[in-house]
Amino acid sequence: MQITSPDRAQLRKIIRQQRRALTAHAQHLHAQKLAENLCRHPAFRNAKRIAFYLPEDGEIDTAYLIERAWRYKKEVYLPVLPPFGHSLFFAPYTAGSTLQANRFGIAEPLCQPHHWLRARQLNLILLPLVAFDNHGNRLGMGGGFYDRSLAFTRHRKQWHSPHLIGLAHELQKVEQLSCESWDVPLNMIATEKNIYRF
Ligand SMILES: Nc1ncnc2c1ncn2[C@@H]1O[C@H](COP(=O)(O)OP(=O)(O)OP(=O)(O)O)[C@@H](O)[C@H]1O
Ligand SMILES: [Mg+2]
Repeated sequence: MQITSPDRAQLRKIIRQQRRALTAHAQHLHAQKLAENLCRHPAFRNAKRIAFYLPEDGEIDTAYLIERAWRYKKEVYLPVLPPFGHSLFFAPYTAGSTLQANRFGIAEPLCQPHHWLRARQLNLILLPLVAFDNHGNRLGMGGGFYDRSLAFTRHRKQWHSPHLIGLAHELQKVEQLSCESWDVPLNMIATEKNIYRF
């Protein structure tokens, strides 16, 4: 089924409902399976600076992966939204970090802006998403924040860091998403069942 542009909002609504309807048990199981598969993958093992996200709205939980990353002495980052502007920065996140809500109510590490990194300084970014397809296209929540922050990756002839991996429940997969000129495609998508490479 081809999903056309006007349907993006409708598709977001349907999949977000399905994602929220997952039981706590299913959520736990999916997150654990995804973490077991992904933390063995070279894309994760070889990355030193990794951006995660904290789950909202039924997004797959990153807690197991973050634990692994801390154990392997990797640098863990979470996205932060500056009070003005539409691009993401990434703040260091440790077990001792204090979190505070941003203007969308999403928790972010409380830290001085001079500690923030830009996307291009990371080796790997794990992105949340609402839907994905067989070609690595990603539908997000509709803010365009990741797309804006990763727009620079579209102008490169050869692939460099950061590696982009979407994390999702298998139920978020659709046959084909219509994509817009600004949508940044992903290198991989990990679910509880598969690791898709594009
Ligand atoms: N590189 C960019 N420069 C300027 N505006 C952009 C850019 N990328 C996306 N946008 C704007 O962001 C809006 C939302 O984009 P889109 O619907 O693709 O969001 P999304 O991918 O679901 O969100 P997110 O990236 O936050 O997960 C679009 O209307 C688009 O105009
Ligand atoms: Mg987009």
